[in-house]
Amino acid sequence: MPDRFDLPAGFRWGAATAAYQIEGAVEEDGRGRSVWDTFCARPGAVRDGHTGAVACDHYHRYPEDIALMKDLGLDGYRFSIAWPRVLPTGAGAVNPAGLAFYDRLVDALLEAGIAPLPTLFHWDLPQALEDDGGWLNRDTAYRFAEYASVMADRLGDRIPTWITLNEPFVHTVFGYAMGIHAPGRALMFEALPAAHHQLLGHGLAASLLRERGLEVMLSNNLTPVEPASDSAGDVAAAEAYDALHNRLFTDPVLLGRYPDLSALGVPDDIYGAVRPGDTDLIHAPGLDGLGVNYYNPTRVAAPTDPGLPFDLVDIPDVPRTAFGWPVVPDGLRRLLAGLRESYGKALPPITITENGCSTPDAPDDQARITYLATHLDALAAAVTAGVDVRGYYTWSLLDNFEWAEGYHQRFGLVYVDFATQKRTPKASYAWYRDLIAAHRAY
Ligand code: FCB
Repeated sequence: MPDRFDLPAGFRWGAATAAYQIEGAVEEDGRGRSVWDTFCARPGAVRDGHTGAVACDHYHRYPEDIALMKDLGLDGYRFSIAWPRVLPTGAGAVNPAGLAFYDRLVDALLEAGIAPLPTLFHWDLPQALEDDGGWLNRDTAYRFAEYASVMADRLGDRIPTWITLNEPFVHTVFGYAMGIHAPGRALMFEALPAAHHQLLGHGLAASLLRERGLEVMLSNNLTPVEPASDSAGDVAAAEAYDALHNRLFTDPVLLGRYPDLSALGVPDDIYGAVRPGDTDLIHAPGLDGLGVNYYNPTRVAAPTDPGLPFDLVDIPDVPRTAFGWPVVPDGLRRLLAGLRESYGKALPPITITENGCSTPDAPDDQARITYLATHLDALAAAVTAGVDVRGYYTWSLLDNFEWAEGYHQRFGLVYVDFATQKRTPKASYAWYRDLIAAHRAY
């Protein structure tokens, strides 16, 4: 039996998407504006001026998309809820038509025998909240918790497990530190209060969800960090980068404290954002599962630019995805083993909530099959070594709006012709369907 099937019985197979990347219908049924609508309108922000205004038109075509999921045999579907569809200005009056869309979606998933796994925040902050400072404003954490309660009250009867945030690292660094994603702020390390406020929002929301008997997960983009050499400078730079990318987002949740950020020149209270008691609010509610999004490792060397405490360098001699990202399947095994080693008993069960690659513009995507198969091998090796991994959600079900890259990167099991909205299952779709069926039959 191939390694890739060597995963426990009951292991859950899924696929993931996000609201702004697939829904479209940005002006329909009372949806408010999000930071991504604003960012896409900024000249030069997104490649070729692409926007998510139509995307995969999933808002209207979700029945067809659920039929594709059913045919795949998915156990679960990870999607995100667009906060501005439900609360158009981020707070206050609820938009009944927005809530009704997620009701229909969830009912149709359950009808198809697929467990809905929602993410409450996948980067599309209501613009009205951004106008008040977005995640740099502590109040946003409280608004997030209110929004989480609205959703739990409406859908908690049908959805037992919720993901609060998607990849606060990427949102903070790309959105607030470097300005290459919405909201397009370039504050460098002074962006880090946005990280703290997201984590605080997670903690406040987690406590409300768990009070209602719901399970809570948090999905992070995690990367195994490797120093470019054994030199003291490279090793120190790798440690500083690991603290920023991984531990900043995982230590407070699992251990109740922030890592030492002094190598980054960041004060302990993260520029005054961390108030007494905050780390308890983040840690105390507990976490039922850690969502791991894995794409590639990161190689780090001592800085050449005095402005930064590290240099990110290329990983030599490895294949690349269409996006140019290095393909290192064993990085997933190392990442999982490292989490177990670092957190021990504090580590809850893991679900891989994203993993996948972009491939050239064609439905025959052999490169995706190789990518998925080799990563599942690495995952199975980690499980065999004792890491508790409960499920795997590939990114992504459909080709979709890939943020600053627009429609240029295709991550789907299903090819989408964006001119006609025709869906064509790719070679990897049939492969994944067969894998799920074989695992289930075993
Ligand atoms: C992740 C995002 C997801 C998608 C993939 C390719 O960082 O969470 O929305 O863009 O990358």
